[in-house]
Order: sequence, then structure tokens, then C-alpha cells
Amino acid sequence: MIHFNDVTKVYNGNVKAIENMNFNVEDGELVIMLGPSGCGKTTLLRMVNQLESITDGDIMLNGKSVKHSNKIEMRRNIGYVIQSNGLFPNMNIEDNAMIVPNLLGWDRKKMRDRFNTLMELVGLNPDQYRKRFPHELSGGQQQRVGVARALAADPPVMLMDEPFGALDPIIRTHLQEEFLQIQKELKKTILFVSHDIDEAVKMADKIALLKGGQMMQYAEPAKMLNKPANSFVAEFVGQDRVLKSMSLYTVKDLATALTLKPVSESLEAQNINENLSLRVAISKLLNQEADQLIVENNNGTNKGSITLDLIEQFLHREIKESV
Ligand SMILES: Nc1ncnc2c1ncn2[C@@H]1O[C@H](COP(=O)(O)OP(=O)(O)O)[C@@H](O)[C@H]1O
Ligand SMILES: [Mg+2]
Repeated sequence: MIHFNDVTKVYNGNVKAIENMNFNVEDGELVIMLGPSGCGKTTLLRMVNQLESITDGDIMLNGKSVKHSNKIEMRRNIGYVIQSNGLFPNMNIEDNAMIVPNLLGWDRKKMRDRFNTLMELVGLNPDQYRKRFPHELSGGQQQRVGVARALAADPPVMLMDEPFGALDPIIRTHLQEEFLQIQKELKKTILFVSHDIDEAVKMADKIALLKGGQMMQYAEPAKMLNKPANSFVAEFVGQDRVLKSMSLYTVKDLATALTLKPVSESLEAQNINENLSLRVAISKLLNQEADQLIVENNNGTNKGSITLDLIEQFLHREIKESV
């Protein structure tokens, strides 16, 4: 869907912000561009909707060069969300959210229906907020409206530049989870900028880790955590990468790879649903007397038990090349 073909960006003839970038984003994927400040994330994003020109190479959107596309038309098909949500202070929430539909000449009824749907989607009551102005909303609420606005004309592609970066951690976590729910339903193709590895691990289908305008690794979160391509990646994803990767593996993954232990009757072991993560399993194990958890599937059928030993065995198997 989005193909980066040898993309290079040089500012003012001498600042090389992006160097020979090659990667593909598939339909319906959420790709997070990650890396330290100044590594070129925003530049890369803004070349997609041509807010920045491309110095060398090209970006293909659905097989069509963005350089040769009509900018106005293309931007209508690309939702764009930025950290400072970019809402117009003198326009009410409904008008802000409906900017693109308005440009497209939708009638009032269609716009109102769309506004109502989107506000429900981002968790705001449409009637309560319709006539309010941005300054009357909290930062988190403004970002929700920012997301609603980007989704207004149902664009297939979304570009999101640290959309939750300015929010406090609790609200941020909440919005990440909500957005993941929305994405499950809408399956947009999303390029999402972040400098936060935890955000990336939690949300991304794939992570593009950049340094100094170059791609360090492009991979699924579990792969990046368990098989970092070089020492920069290993250091960036952190010492606790084993712990992080445990939240990506489910009990079911373990049960598929290894034989579960028989359930012993003696102690009062808790049950664990096989779709929960190994991180949850470990925390349960550490907070009960018994040394095993009884694994059950969604129908409540008992499939055997897991122990700390078994989890350790599984992690060594999966992560052995990097621990
Ligand atoms: N408009 C600009 N003019 C000149 N240099 C720029 C401009 N925008 C960004 N840069 C430079 O390009 C590099 C990448 O910046 P940016 O894409 O904003 O990084 P990030 O979003 O990862 O923090 C930095 O060295 C930055 O100083
Ligand atoms: Mg940036």
C-alpha cells in the first residue's frame, strides 16, 4: 500500500534527514516509526502527504507516486493527526471535525450523522460537545476530536505524529487502548510516529526503528525485542526486553510450543485463560501459593498447567539468540 523506494531527504542542500529508506507498509497495518529525537520520523511521515518534498527516490501510495499526485486530492484520502491537535480555536467541535467533509460538499444531514458516529467512536458524547470550542476541552478530549477529524472522510491511510505524546501517562494509555480497538474495527493503513518503545510494542504490527535518518531494523515487535539486529536496537528497546516480550506471547503460544504439565490436585491453583499473556501468567503465579496455573480455553476446558519452569523454558527457546 505504501512503498518507500530509496527515499532520501536533504534540507537546505546540506542537512541529510533521511537516507535511502526502503520499506513497505501493507494494507491495514499499523506501523510505528520509532527513534530518538531528530532521527527523521516526522520528515518521513510528512513526505507521504507531501508536506515535505522528496529529495531523491519516491513514495508510492497504492502504486502511484506521491510526487505526481494532486496534493489536495491526495491529502483528503490521508488522515493526519499531530501532537498539538491542530484544532482551530475559533471553530466549534463539530465544524472542526467536519472540515474535510465540508470541503467535499457533503450535505448537512450526512455531516451530522458522520459527526455523531465519529464522536461515539472516540468516546465523546456528540450532543454534549458539538457546540463547544477546543479550549473548553481537556487535552485528551482535544486529541480525541483530532482523531475523529482525521477519520472524518474515512480515509484509507492515516498519518499520526506522536498523537498522544503531549498527554499524561494515564490518559495516554487509555487513548492507546481505545485507538487499538478502533483500529481493529476500521483496519486503516497507519503510519504512527513515536519515541516511546512501550507505546510501539503495545500498538504496532511492525516497528521501523530509525537512527540518524537510517533504518536500524524493520520488524514485528516480538522479533525486534528478541532478535535485535544490532547493538543500537538492543540498547534502544532496553534491558527489560525479555519482560516486554512476555506481554506479546500468550499462554497459548507456550502451550503450542511445549507440553503442558499435568494438573496436581494438592494446592489451590488459579485458572488462566490461554489467550492471556505470559506476563499476566507470571504475575498470577507470583501471587498465589500453588506453583502452577491451570490453563483453560474460552470454553473453560482444562488443558493442563503451566509453571515458572515451563515459562522459563519457553522464553529461552524463543529468545535464546539474544539473552
Ligand atoms: N524544515 C527543516 N529545515 C531544516 N532541517 C530540518 C527541518 N525539519 C527537520 N530538520 C532536521 O531534520 C532532522 C530530522 O528531523 P525530524 O524529522 O523532525 O526528526 P524527528 O521527528 O525524528 O524528531 C533533524 O536533524 C532536524 O533538525
Ligand atoms: Mg518529530
